[in-house]
Amino acid sequence: MSVMKPAILVCRRVFPEVLERLREHFEVEGNDADVVWSRDELIAHLQGKAGVFVTGTQPVDSGLLDACPTLRAVCSMAVGYNNIDVAACTARGVLVSNAPDVLTETTADFGFALMMAAARRISESEHFLRRGEWTKWSVDLFAGADVHGATLGVLGMGRIGQAIARRGARGFAMPVLYHNRSRLDAAVEAELGARYVSKEALLAESDHLVIVVPYSAESHHLVGAAELRRMKAAATLTNIARGGIVDDAALARALREGTIAAAGLDVFEGEPAVYPDLLTLPNVVLTPHIASASLPTRKAMAQLAADNLIAALDARPGAKPPPTPLNPEVLARKV
Ligand code: GLV
Repeated sequence: MSVMKPAILVCRRVFPEVLERLREHFEVEGNDADVVWSRDELIAHLQGKAGVFVTGTQPVDSGLLDACPTLRAVCSMAVGYNNIDVAACTARGVLVSNAPDVLTETTADFGFALMMAAARRISESEHFLRRGEWTKWSVDLFAGADVHGATLGVLGMGRIGQAIARRGARGFAMPVLYHNRSRLDAAVEAELGARYVSKEALLAESDHLVIVVPYSAESHHLVGAAELRRMKAAATLTNIARGGIVDDAALARALREGTIAAAGLDVFEGEPAVYPDLLTLPNVVLTPHIASASLPTRKAMAQLAADNLIAALDARPGAKPPPTPLNPEVLARKV
C-alpha cells in the first residue's frame, strides 16, 4: 500500500542534495528559478501544503497562516526569525524552527573580517588602486586603526557575539566589553575574557563595535544618532545582525561628518535596497547579507531546516522531535 507523502513548498532555490532528501519524504514543490514571490504568490503556492521551507526573507504572519490552513510546519534555514510571527504560528499549532549553531563560527569569522576591513580601510584602498590612483608610496596612505590590542565592543552576546569575543580576546589580545539584555554567568565571562558594561559605556569605550543582537521592536534603531555621538571619533561600527537595528540614515551622516571613522555593514534597512548615501561614502564596507555564506555552512543550514521539516511532519508514533524548534509547546500539544 502506498502512503501519500505530505506536500511541502521550498520557497527559494536550495542545494540539489537538500531537495533530494526532502523528496524522499515529501511531494516537493521547489523554486529552482529562485523567483522572489510576492505575499499573494507565496500564499497561492502554499495551498494544500503541510510544510514550508523558508529563508529569513519570507514574512510569515497571521494573515498568511489564516490563508494557508493546511500548514503545520514553517522551517527556516536562517537563525534570525524576525520574519516569522512565532506566536501566531503557536496559536494555530504550527511548528516553527530556525537554524542556530551551524552558522555561529562562520558568521563570527565574517563579522571579524568586516570589522578588520573597516578598521584597515581595505575596500576603500582597493577601490583607489583599481581606479589607477596609486602612483606613489605615502607615509599615511590609507593609515587606519589597529585591531590587535584595541577594545572590542560586542552589542548582543549570544552565540555569535561570544564567538566574536573569543576571536578578539584570544587571537588579537583585545580587551572585550559587551552589553546584552541579560548578563552572562561569571564563568562564561571569564572564559570569553569579556566584561559586562552598560550600553552607554560600551558605546563610549569601544574602538570597534560589533552588533549581533536579534531584530525586534525593542532593537529597532538601537543605534541611532544619539548613540553614534557617544562613540569615539576613531571608532568603527560593524552590523552583521539585521537591518533596522542601526539607523542607516544617521549612520551615513555620522560617517560623512566624522562622528565615527568607519563602518562595516552586511545588513541594511529595507535590503536589498541600500540607503543611497551609504553607497557614496568611502569609509563604509558594504556586503550583501553574506555573513553565513561559506558553502559548507549554507549547506548545513539548509540541511538543518530539512531535518526540522522532516521531523515536524513525521506522524509516526515515537518519531524523533525536530532538532531546533522555536515553539516546542506545539509538539507537546500533539501527544
Ligand atoms: C541570516 O541573517 C540568518 O539569520 O541566518
